[in-house]
Formats: sequence, structure tokens, C-alpha cells
Amino acid sequence: MNKKKYYITTPIYYPSGKPHMGHAYSSIIADVIARYKRLEGYEVYFLTGTDEHGLKIQREAEKNKKDTQKFCNELSEKFKELTKILNLSNNDFIRTTEKRHYRSVEDLWKKLEKSGDIYLDKYKGWYSVSDEAYYDDDEIIEQAGSKISKLSGSKVEWVEEESYFFKLSSWAKRLLDHYKSHPNFILPASRNNEVVKFVEKGLKDLSVSRTSFSWGIPVPKNQKHIIYVWLDALTNYLSALNYPDTSSDLYKSFWPADLHIIGKDILRFHAIYWPAFLMAAKLPLPKRIFGHGWILSDEKKMSKSLGNILDPIDIIENYGIDQLRYYLIKEVSLGNDGNVSLNNLKNCINNDLANNYGNLCQRVFSFLKKNCSNKIPQTDTFTNEDKALTSKLKNDIDKLNQLIDEQDLNIYIKKVIEYSFDSNKYFNDSEPWSLKKTDENRMNSVLYSIVEQIKNISILLLPIIPNSANKILDVINVSKDQRVISDINKSKTLNHNKELGKIEILFKKVE
Ligand code: ME8
Ligand code: MG
Repeated sequence: MNKKKYYITTPIYYPSGKPHMGHAYSSIIADVIARYKRLEGYEVYFLTGTDEHGLKIQREAEKNKKDTQKFCNELSEKFKELTKILNLSNNDFIRTTEKRHYRSVEDLWKKLEKSGDIYLDKYKGWYSVSDEAYYDDDEIIEQAGSKISKLSGSKVEWVEEESYFFKLSSWAKRLLDHYKSHPNFILPASRNNEVVKFVEKGLKDLSVSRTSFSWGIPVPKNQKHIIYVWLDALTNYLSALNYPDTSSDLYKSFWPADLHIIGKDILRFHAIYWPAFLMAAKLPLPKRIFGHGWILSDEKKMSKSLGNILDPIDIIENYGIDQLRYYLIKEVSLGNDGNVSLNNLKNCINNDLANNYGNLCQRVFSFLKKNCSNKIPQTDTFTNEDKALTSKLKNDIDKLNQLIDEQDLNIYIKKVIEYSFDSNKYFNDSEPWSLKKTDENRMNSVLYSIVEQIKNISILLLPIIPNSANKILDVINVSKDQRVISDINKSKTLNHNKELGKIEILFKKVE
């Protein structure tokens, strides 16, 4: 059986400080999509990791009076722990200080040299260590006596040194052609427009090595040069698939990537530099780059320097991981900036999880326990109302698949929670407690329909709140191999014979 393949990545994060909500956000987005594609029957490779080279990391380690490698080991470990805390289903965690990655970057470098895309010259210009980015004169402004990047607001310093250059200028036309012929290469569309406008102004060649520090991968055959950290970092997406071994199963199955999830801050690197490097190396381009917006706190970007960070680990300890995952995906329309706050988190937990989905499961299961020997009743006849309840969701499956494929995650979630809302209403309106006395057959079909609906809603919630949705599916004895999208449109799949499992309160209301 040859399953369809799907390769999705997060940015690899700088382990220059401990992980924050923005990192958690990118990772959760990628995880939701990875999990959904698996439910859809794809074999998924989901990659995340840490980006450990460059001057930013070297300086941070010096500031902390630590050996650089040791510093990276400690902080990379924090990001690895975060993947567990966030309940990520990643298949791999790559570190750019690993041998497999060196091998891959060195090979890519040699390919670029061989194709004639790299030459030696001198770099004179601005550099932001915080962004690890070169900026042109017209991208710099002066603020309170220091020069900063207009784009990111981070400080820049003047650099003058011997450097290798990549002939980025010669790729502008082919990049523009690619954007044009692949309108979904960069999403959302507003991001695509930004990139197109930028490239249309023409591209300068890109400095791809530095000589003034040592923390990185040396240029093959000229070891005083360290490869530019972005050329190094972007290659992680290939290293994890055993590149340069292009005959390896991983590479053959998963390259080109289906989706790079990134924040909009690193769009230029992914949407311009990365495809240009790949084209020069004659490698296929990823299918899509999705640049999501900022998580804001008090309407400002959450960042270490602004000190307005909501710590994901604190939030998870206090409210739960499924709660945070649900909230971030529902609250922020992917691609736009979104303000998050404790207050909104609490409202979301209470309204959607505790009072809606949680309450639905709770009341239906308690009813079954009390009135139906704790089993799902058997039935053969369904009324039009019963069918209307369950068929709406079933008929929406293609649309739901599409929402995921277009990365419309918050619309997806809103639809799913609406089914739950409708189910609560149906339970109220059908009054199974009255039917118990007057029409037990009818009561059975109401209950059957509503449990089937709980099952299907829970399957759809698996990517978002995997712990809780799995617990609900456990209660109603849905087997592991039934927890897939294709099971939703099968009829009469519920288990009547086994008693329901024990239900605990999944979502406590919060004050
Ligand atoms: O840029 N809101 O790493 P990084 C939403 N190593 N997302 C945010 C965010 C916020 N406030 N803050 C950060 C790097 N992010 C490079 C990437 S990839 C080959 C190399 C997320 O640690 C967002 O995804 O600075 C952003 O792109 C990423 O963290 C930057 O993480
Ligand atoms: Mg950053």
C-alpha cells in the first residue's frame, strides 16, 4: 500500500532564549495540519528543530559565559521539551549542529559553487545580528541615535569584510515567473504581493559568508569563511530527509515539501532566498510557504525585548494544553495578527470547551448511564431530524478538507464547534428524558444520532485537542483504526455491546 505523502515543517528556532508563545503558535499550527493530514490517510513527515549557528547565538552564549555548544545543547533541550509539552506529533527534531546537517549544507554549497552562482568579493553594508539579516541603505532609519531596520526595528551594525556572494540578482526573473505560475506558492495572497513587489524592484547579490566570527559551518575549501546562517538554516528542511542522499527513501518520499509554516518576519528568507538557492542547485521547490501573522499581547508583538510575553508553559500548567491549542487556533485568523489575552482564553475555554463540547459529552453520557445501562442503544429507524443532525457534518467533509488545505484553520474550528452547538440544541429539543416515558424507540434513535455526532465531532477535533478528543472516543469505544476522516461517512459504526468508559470532566470552567 503506497500512501500519499505530506511533508510539513516549522521554522527552526534560535535557541537564544527560552521558547515563547510565538514559537508555540507556529508549532501548534503545523501540528494541527500534520495531524489532520494523517487522519486523511497521508503518510506525514513533520519536522521541527533548532537553528544554532551564527553571531546571534555566539554572542548570547558569550553573554551567559557559556561554551557555545553547551549553551546550544541546554537551550535546544528546552525546545525539545516544548514539543512534548505542546503534544506535537513531529517525526524528527533537527539541530543545525548535527553532522547530518553539516553534510547537507556543505553539499548544497558545493552545488551552488559548481553552478557558478557563488563568487568571492567584499561586503560593505548593514547587518542585523538579531535578525541575522543584511539590509540596504534604504531599509535603515535612525532612531534615538542608533540605526535600525525599518522592517523589524532591530539594531543594525556596519560590516566590511571579505565575503562570498550568491548571484541572487540573476534569479529575480525566474523567481517572478515562479510566483506567477504558482499563485499559491506564497500564502496568504497579501504576503505574495509583498514579495512580488520586493523582487520586482530587482535583487542584489547576497552575501553568504562571514569571516569575523567562527560559530558556524565553514565554507568547504576556505575555512576562514563561515557560511551565512540563513543558507545554513534553510537547508535543514533537506538535511532531515538525508539530503544529499537523494536516493534515500525519506528524500524520495517527501521532497519537495508540501508546506513550510513560518512567521511573516522570515518571509524574505523563505520566499526569495530559499527558492533561489534550490533553483540554482537544480532541486525542486517546496509547494507552499505560509507566512502567519503575529501573536500580539496588548496589540503589540509579543517579544522578549518588549517584555510582554505570555509564557506558554505557565498557561499550559494553569489551563491545559488542549485549551491553549484550541484557543490559539480559534482566536487568530491564520495569516493575520491576533491579539491574545488571558481573559479571552478563559472565555474561550468556558464557552466553547466547557459549556459547549464538554457539556454535550457530559450530559449525553450521564443520560446513557442513567437510562440505557451505560450503553449506546440500538436502533434502525431515524427521523428526518436525526438525519439532518448527522448528515450536515458528513456532507461538509470535502469542505473541511479544503479548509485545512487552504490553511483556514480558524474557520475550520468554528464550523466544528457549531456542530457541537447544534447537537446540544438537538438534545434539548428532542427531550430524551420525556421520550423515555412515551417512546423508547424514538429515544434510542435520538441518542444513537447524538453519540454518532459526538464521535464525528471528536474525530474532527483530534488535530486540535488530541488528548481530550481521544478520551471522548475512548469513552464510546471507538477503535483506534476508526479514528480517521474516512470513518465519518460510514453508517452504523457505533459499538452497542460494550459499556461506555468512565468519563472525567475534561474542561473545567475557569474564573
Ligand atoms: O527566525 N507571533 O528563529 P526565531 C507569532 N531561526 N509567531 C512568532 C512570534 C510572534 N510574536 N515570535 C516568533 C528564526 N514567532 C530562524 C528561523 S527557519 C529556517 C530559521 C515564530 O527563533 C514565527 O514562526 O526568531 C517566527 O517566524 C519564528 O517564531 C521565529 O523564530
Ligand atoms: Mg526572531
